[in-house]
Amino acid sequence: MSSHATARACSNIALVKYWGKRQAALNLPVNGSISMTLDGMHTTTTVTWDDALSRDAAELNGAAVTGEALDRLSLFLDRVRVIWGEAPRARVVTQNNFPTAAGLASSASGFAALALASTAAAGLDLGQRDLSVLARQGSGSASRSIFGGFAEWKRGEREDGIDSYAEQILAQDAWDVRMLVAVLAPGPKSVSSRAGMTRTVETSPMYPAWVATVGADLDAMREAIAARDLSRVGAVAEANCLKMHATMHTTLPAILYWQPPTVALMHRVTALRAEGMTCYFTIDAGPNVKVLCAPGEAERLAAELAGVSGVQEVLTCRPGPGATLL
Ligand code: PMV
Repeated sequence: MSSHATARACSNIALVKYWGKRQAALNLPVNGSISMTLDGMHTTTTVTWDDALSRDAAELNGAAVTGEALDRLSLFLDRVRVIWGEAPRARVVTQNNFPTAAGLASSASGFAALALASTAAAGLDLGQRDLSVLARQGSGSASRSIFGGFAEWKRGEREDGIDSYAEQILAQDAWDVRMLVAVLAPGPKSVSSRAGMTRTVETSPMYPAWVATVGADLDAMREAIAARDLSRVGAVAEANCLKMHATMHTTLPAILYWQPPTVALMHRVTALRAEGMTCYFTIDAGPNVKVLCAPGEAERLAAELAGVSGVQEVLTCRPGPGATLL
């Protein structure tokens, strides 16, 4: 027996961040989160289930996946095998169309594409909600990449996680905005989001303040997106990002994802805003800076960001589609 399927999923950038797990094995979050799916950054994955294989094998951008990354992928495929009730091994061939080595989150698009391709190749038709629950177990943020446009991942209450999934809150073509991604030169290897979250929950005295206030950020963000209010979305996103980084900066030992060009970009965006441009930054568990802006200002802004010392490349993204079979 051999069967295969190919799926594509886009990356997403959180506007209200997921930071902290209440249960690690199933990636159950402490708080809900809201994101924009990005059309310019996607992962394409082919999964072939094959009785002739003795173990799972994978390649990413032409190079064999080994060690911990392969173990994590195999663990994810085990979850699919449990749903399916069959146990063949799989060959996974995956390609990112954006610079993986530059520390751009690829786990969101990666596990969303893998969830869809692996279940479709097994002949399973899960539907978006169950796909989101499955993708979440590979990487929390992947739960949101199942959906196009803007998505909210609900925290959920249950211990088995079946109520912790994402939903679309605004369709891809309902609002035209841009997200610029300023890619910095690869720096020292940073702390993984997994390890960073654990350390934050365990040691940051600021974490309780995050938990106490993120609900209000979610409410404000939901309303601002529904109203297509770019300034409000940007302001809430920027404040939420800085609050998350404040919890990281106050862990023991401290986690500082920012590099000098990260800080220079934050100042540049703030200065351009003071000059009248509608632009707001957000930063994840790495040094790269993403900037939300109006479509008409994207070109000028991209040139401004590219001029900041240490910026290697600026990608321009629109709201992207949800995960699809090719
Ligand atoms: O899904 P993970 O484990 O890669 O964590 C993502 C964490 C952040 O990117 C910092 C925030 C988010 O909501 O995407």
